[in-house]
Order: sequence, then structure tokens, then C-alpha cells
Amino acid sequence: MKEKKVLRIGLIGGGFMGRTHSNGYKRVGDFFPELEYRPELKAVCSRREDKVQAFANQWGYQSFETDWKRVIERDDIDAIDICTPNNMHAEIAIAASEAGKMILCEKPLSRTLAEGKQMVDAVEKAGVKNTVWYNYRRLPAVTLAKQIIDSGKLGRIFHYRANFLQDWTINANLPQGGEGLWRLDVDAAGSGVTGDLLAHCIDAAIWMNGSIKDVSAVTETFIKERMHQETGQMQKVGIDDACIFHCHFENGSLGLFESTRYARGHKALYTFEINGEHASIRWDLHDLNKLEFFDHADDSIVRGWRTIHVTDSDQPYMNKWWVPGLSIGYEHSFVHQVADFLKSLETGEPCAPTFKDALETQKVCEAVIESGASRSWKEVGKVGK
Ligand SMILES: NC(=O)c1ccc[n+]([C@@H]2O[C@H](COP(=O)([O-])OP(=O)(O)OC[C@H]3O[C@@H](n4cnc5c(N)ncnc54)[C@H](O)[C@@H]3O)[C@@H](O)[C@H]2O)c1
Repeated sequence: MKEKKVLRIGLIGGGFMGRTHSNGYKRVGDFFPELEYRPELKAVCSRREDKVQAFANQWGYQSFETDWKRVIERDDIDAIDICTPNNMHAEIAIAASEAGKMILCEKPLSRTLAEGKQMVDAVEKAGVKNTVWYNYRRLPAVTLAKQIIDSGKLGRIFHYRANFLQDWTINANLPQGGEGLWRLDVDAAGSGVTGDLLAHCIDAAIWMNGSIKDVSAVTETFIKERMHQETGQMQKVGIDDACIFHCHFENGSLGLFESTRYARGHKALYTFEINGEHASIRWDLHDLNKLEFFDHADDSIVRGWRTIHVTDSDQPYMNKWWVPGLSIGYEHSFVHQVADFLKSLETGEPCAPTFKDALETQKVCEAVIESGASRSWKEVGKVGK
């Protein structure tokens, strides 16, 4: 068998995403044996030595570091995988670009549009390969939704509707900041549900339905002060706990988006529905292998919503897994992203979404936050100017 080329990974951040990515690197070769490249888990970095050592042992990294700058300096690493809280993305990505490393960065690209622009400039100046982990694109049912839209089956699109609902912060005693709770601290996260959850919905929406022209948003912070884990002081909460926005897409369709961490009973309800002239589709993360499809061209006596179980080998990615009818899960979206990144090394094509693609989502996020603060419509093309 032909010897594989090696992509030597330096993973920074050993939390939730550090685990999903490591699983992706470990599984990809078993299920995508045709790839010319294989990842090698060279080093993992996080700040606490005991924890990072345990992570390295558990996931099979050859070494560990406690200072991310060391990972970037190392000659035996080709690609930096950024799995840290959002406030570290820009600094690490810019340093990695300057060192000529490839970069796989978690979403959102950055806290702010200004930071995101610096990151795009850095990767473009250095000419390094880059991608952002908007992983939901690579769930087979979501990829199929995109293929159905691109095939023209929906015709003209009128509506794009998406929700991302959670309930885990309905507790005034929950602190903000620090390990595990950085998402509640605006300095670490940049924004609340807008950058954390809606960014996924916006990325998918732009990918499937094109650019967003303008937005009008309502944002709310239900719990105004929380104790900060790092200072021990009560501090103002700067994130949006909930955000609802509507928008115009460039193609003339209307968008309606809602996200909150205050929808009691919902852990991670991400849904979207797209209504076109001839047909509609809808999807729900809780039942992620299924895509619902309504086709008005069906004979009227059998016309209705049909459920497509996206597990057949002619459906996206599914020829890599089991036999038709058998499901896959959340973690597979990360395996697919690793596979697509490795494939892009063979073809020389970009691995979407690139930093530049993800900057479009960042512009919409910024427009949404500005619109919520000013209670006015914002044109996406004019934010940050
Ligand atoms: N694609 C997705 O669906 C998805 C889901 C969750 C999180 N994310 C994104 O992934 C990133 C990480 O989120 P998470 O849930 O894994 O967070 P987490 O809190 O579980 O893990 C963060 C890790 O970063 C480490 N870290 C923090 N500061 C560091 C530093 N200066 N140097 C080295 N390590 C440092 C922490 O020790 C921890 O191991 C965020 O940008 C988040 O938005 C994406």
C-alpha cells in the first residue's frame, strides 16, 4: 500500500471541541482510506499540566505543551487547530499564520468583525491553508438540503427560518467567566447567543440561501449581573442571553432567526425550514439523520411532508459508513470536516468555510449586535466601515 503523507497536528485547547476534533483525526483514516494524507496527533496544549497530560494520554497525542506559543514555534507541526475560547482565536491564528502553519479554527471566527478582518489578512498574507469548523454543514442531511436547493427543486425561495434554543443559563447564581463559563463573559466570548449559536444558523443560511443584506434585531440580557469566577466580584453581564432577528437576503427572501439560553426544556434545539415556490425542506438537530421535504408537484392525493432518512450510500458522506437505514451522529460531522480538509490538501482547493467565508457570518453577527443595541435596521455591507 502507498505510504501516506502526514499532516502533523498541534491542537490548542483540550475541552469539548478538543475532544470532538481529536475523535475526527483518529477515525478519519479508518473510514476514508483513499485519502493521501493522514493526521498525526503531534501535540496538544492547554494551560494546566495535569489536565493536558491526561488529555494527551487519553487521546494518543505524542506530546503536550502548556504554552500555546511553543506549539507554534515547533518545526514538527504543520497545522494548528484552535479549540480555545473565542478571545484567543485571533492572537493564535495570526501567530500561526506568521509561522507559516495551516490553521483549522473553531467558530465563531472571532469576537468582533475587526478581529476577524485581521485574521483574514494574516492568512491571506501568509498564504496558509485555513478553515473554520462550522461542522453542521457536514451532517449528511444538511449537506443534502444544500444539494436539493442547488438543484433548483425549491424554485424561488421566499422564507428561511432558523432556531437555536437552549436553557442552561436560567440561574442567577451561575457565575460568569473562567473555566467552563467563559461563554457568559463578553470579554472572552465577544457576544452571547449571537456568536455562539446564531453563528451556526447564519453560516448555514448564507451557504444555502446566499448573502444577507440587512438585519433588524432584538437582543436581551435577562440576568444583568453575575459574579465573575476570576475576580470574585459581581460584574455587569455584557452578553446577549437571547436574540431574535429578521432580515432580507440578497435573493429577495426573508429570514427569521431566534436563539436563546432561556427556552426551558430545550438543550440544543437547532432547526431550520426553507420555503420555496415549489417545495420546502426542514431539519432538526434532535433527529439529525432525517430531512423533511414537501413537494407541491406530488399528486395531490398523496401530497404531504415526507421524511427522508439520509442513510443511503448515494446520499452525502453515507457511502463511508454502515448500510442503508443505519444512522450516524453529531461526531461524524467533525470526521467529515477532517476528511474534507485532508482532501483539500490533495486537490489544492480551499476547504470551505475558509476564514474569508466565515468573515461573512461575522459581518452578520456584528450587524445583529449593532441593530439590537441601536434598535434600528443595519445594512450588513456597511458594518465596520
Ligand atoms: N463547532 C461547534 O459546534 C462548537 C461547539 C462548541 C464550541 N465551539 C467553539 O470551540 C471553541 C472552544 O469551545 P469549547 O466548548 O471546547 O470550550 P471548553 O471550555 O470546553 O475548552 C476550552 C479549552 O481551551 C483551553 N484554554 C483556554 N485558554 C487557553 C490558553 N490561553 N492556552 C491554551 N489553552 C487554553 C481550556 O483549558 C480548555 O481546555 C470556542 O471558540 C467555541 O465557540 C464550537
